[in-house]
Amino acid sequence: MSAPHSDNLPDRIIQMHEQAVREMVEPRDGISPTPVTFLLMCFFFTAWGGYYIADNPGAWSGMEYNEKPATVAAGPSAPVDPMVMGREVFGACTQCHQADGKGVAGTYPPLVASDYVTGDERRLAAILVNGVNGPFVVNGATYNSEMPKWRDYFNDEELAAVMTFVRNSWGNKAPAVSKDTVAKVRAELVDKPNAWTASSLAEFSAPKGDTK
Ligand code: HEC
Repeated sequence: MSAPHSDNLPDRIIQMHEQAVREMVEPRDGISPTPVTFLLMCFFFTAWGGYYIADNPGAWSGMEYNEKPATVAAGPSAPVDPMVMGREVFGACTQCHQADGKGVAGTYPPLVASDYVTGDERRLAAILVNGVNGPFVVNGATYNSEMPKWRDYFNDEELAAVMTFVRNSWGNKAPAVSKDTVAKVRAELVDKPNAWTASSLAEFSAPKGDTK
């Protein structure tokens, strides 16, 4: 009895094996684990990105275009020239008092040659902190309008600067005003937020008279 493929069984097995190896891998069910190398790469790039952002924060602000803004020098900042700061703050006043400080006849009083500007600094601070309402006489002319209060818009330093600025522009000449003066007046007026009238302002500035 002779088997049809009796000869050389090992050769035939090897041949079948080669065929099987040549075939594509059969699709399998289930999930295969994410390769560790890939995970490591993800981890590396995430960590690197985080580090990069932390190292180049751009002041954490959308308005900062420099990745590494110069760090603000510690300690007291360079003193700001009050005339420069004052000119900037004065931008809030030009709409009414005009850039030349002359105001608008009949509506907005002048800051040029006004005793309210160059006189008592406490009174001037009070005017700016609370604003003025109603008939108000400046250099003989009556104005009956409204001056907004500035207490919520400018800090002591800014108010002092704009005071110094108007006291020393357009030919006005008067001593600079310190922010402490403004701070004191502001503190005095903490619970007197109403706009001044001509008479309440006179009352405020008259009796104390502790500053020139
Ligand atoms: C919306 C208009 C307006 C703006 C803005 C304004 N003022 Fe006035 N200001 C007036 C009016 C009006 C008066 C007079 C008060 C009245 O009519 O009741 C006055 C009065 C004054 C006075 C006293 C009177 C005088 O002419 O000396 C000073 C000082 C003054 N303002 C300074 C300022 C400064 C400084 C700013 C900016 C921080 C400013 N004002 C912004 C309208 C304005």
